[in-house]
Amino acid sequence: MRILFLTHTFNSLSQRLYCELSSRGHLVSIEFDITDSVAEEAVALFKPDLIVAPYLRRAIPESIWKNHLCLIVHPGIVGDRGPSALDWAIQEQEREWGVTVLQAEAEMDAGPVWASETFPMRVAKKSSLYRNEVTEAATQAVLRAVDHFSDEHFVPVALDYSNPNVRGRLRPLMRQVERSIDWQRDTTATVLAKFNAADGFPGVADTLFGEPCHIFDATAEGILRGTPGELIARRETAVCRATVDGAVWIGHVKRKNGFKLPTCVAFTEACAALPEAALADWWSTGQATWQDIRYEEAGEKGRAVGFLHFDFTNGAMGTDQCRRLLAAYRWATTRPTQVIVLMGGRDFWSNGVHLNLIEAAESPADESWANINAIDDIAEAIICTGTHLTVSAIQGNCGAGGCFLARAADYVWMRDGALMNPHYKNMGNLYGSEYWTYLLPPRVGDEGARAIMQNRLPLTAQAGVANGFIDACLAANIDAFRVDVARRAAELAAAPDLAQHLAAKQEKRAADEAAKPLAQYRSEELDHMRRNFYGFDPSYHVARFHFVQKSPQSWTPRHLAKHRDLGWEVPA
Ligand code: COA
Repeated sequence: MRILFLTHTFNSLSQRLYCELSSRGHLVSIEFDITDSVAEEAVALFKPDLIVAPYLRRAIPESIWKNHLCLIVHPGIVGDRGPSALDWAIQEQEREWGVTVLQAEAEMDAGPVWASETFPMRVAKKSSLYRNEVTEAATQAVLRAVDHFSDEHFVPVALDYSNPNVRGRLRPLMRQVERSIDWQRDTTATVLAKFNAADGFPGVADTLFGEPCHIFDATAEGILRGTPGELIARRETAVCRATVDGAVWIGHVKRKNGFKLPTCVAFTEACAALPEAALADWWSTGQATWQDIRYEEAGEKGRAVGFLHFDFTNGAMGTDQCRRLLAAYRWATTRPTQVIVLMGGRDFWSNGVHLNLIEAAESPADESWANINAIDDIAEAIICTGTHLTVSAIQGNCGAGGCFLARAADYVWMRDGALMNPHYKNMGNLYGSEYWTYLLPPRVGDEGARAIMQNRLPLTAQAGVANGFIDACLAANIDAFRVDVARRAAELAAAPDLAQHLAAKQEKRAADEAAKPLAQYRSEELDHMRRNFYGFDPSYHVARFHFVQKSPQSWTPRHLAKHRDLGWEVPA
């Protein structure tokens, strides 16, 4: 089938659907929802059998839905309508939520239902629910709806509020008055529900240090207490604020006319005056608190595994975060373990350098340089680890430099359903570093490496195994994935030939070093990066500005809009 995606952006959900439908042999082309006339032109050029709208922020024009079947992905249960579906579900602490695929008609979200899925709600940020439960349910529902489309006997179900199974209802846009926190009354659970419901976008309008701002990225604190509403501590980039019955950590803020930044970067001086609640070491505290890097161990002496978690918000790794992660990694290599598993975070393993921190720096070029060197230092430490076998366990998505950092480990195991975007070109033609020129060709071949870098498309775990980038595609369920990772890592640690395995690894590294030193790969990559950062062509700085500022898209990139390719013809 020819399937046209009409979507606001090529976000993670659209990427997942694109991969799933393409892998089933459908030809998928994409048009960003910019204006009615551009969407109409796309439909005229592509002549789709079916239109799918994975992520739209406004209605499809009548000229399109009247003449073509358009399926809308709505992140709500059957009957739910309105633009703040997930926000209400989180804030009202629903126990079960869902995704509905419905047909576009004149009335928004009220068309006949083609498929729906439900899932149990987790206490989590909206962005996390969207990237996990919603994406999974949407994938299942869209695949089913597409099957129904080929079934001439299928009849979509008209929305009928008299049916007791239709539990959803029309709800308005959630406004800041509904999101606002009363620090003298709201319990920690309510405060978290409000922050979680607004996470990603639009945040909760509040004040910090007397200044109005939008707050994001809250985590419960289990021990620290204080006067409700007061800021009581800081740790690395986050601050802790007391509630009536506990406290929460605030990770990110957006000051007026600014963009999202870690709290202690946005309010550097004010935060420095707060008492520091530093953690003693890297060991997982095992209690509710804000801990972006944590370490755990499992297994007996002689066959033990270390798990290093680094849950950096949005997978963005600034210079300081990289330096702390390097210190934690180096410390992990001194532990009496045999295998180190790099767990990343639940939602993202890594998305490479921290573009917001770079944008906020006095000299973005200097900060880019410091950040790429700091991430390269971690990659180098992983590549040069002779004492342990290393594994990157990709639970969530992974982008740009984060993918090559993952590849620095001996093994990359990825959760089925997670996505990689192993390319840099979307960020103003960045050349990239993280030793990709050393790491990639042996896995996927020179031609394969060139294709990955040029294609600028997401890679599923299964496709990654097929092309050699990834070593194993493990369970889709995150708990099952973790169990699988721990079991496989324990097997590696207990293998009778572990010593030979490590010796072979050291020999290979020595031979590679003799053939071409790692330092040379790095310096060649960084020569290109220096030109990206300091050279005449400002593309990277322009692309980063638009990414951080979230500038609206003005056209669909040609690699996504197949119907706009030169010489495009509707296949016979
Ligand atoms: N630095 C700072 N913020 C980043 C980031 C980075 N490297 N990568 C992602 N983010 C942020 C986004 O701004 C967004 O922020 P939000 O909290 O305001 O929503 C959030 O992470 C999620 O990103 P989004 O683009 O919505 O997620 P996605 O799953 O749809 O797409 C990527 C994932 C990786 C394709 C996309 O985020 C991307 O291209 N990131 C930039 C990667 C990059 O070029 N890194 C630099 C070179 S190493």
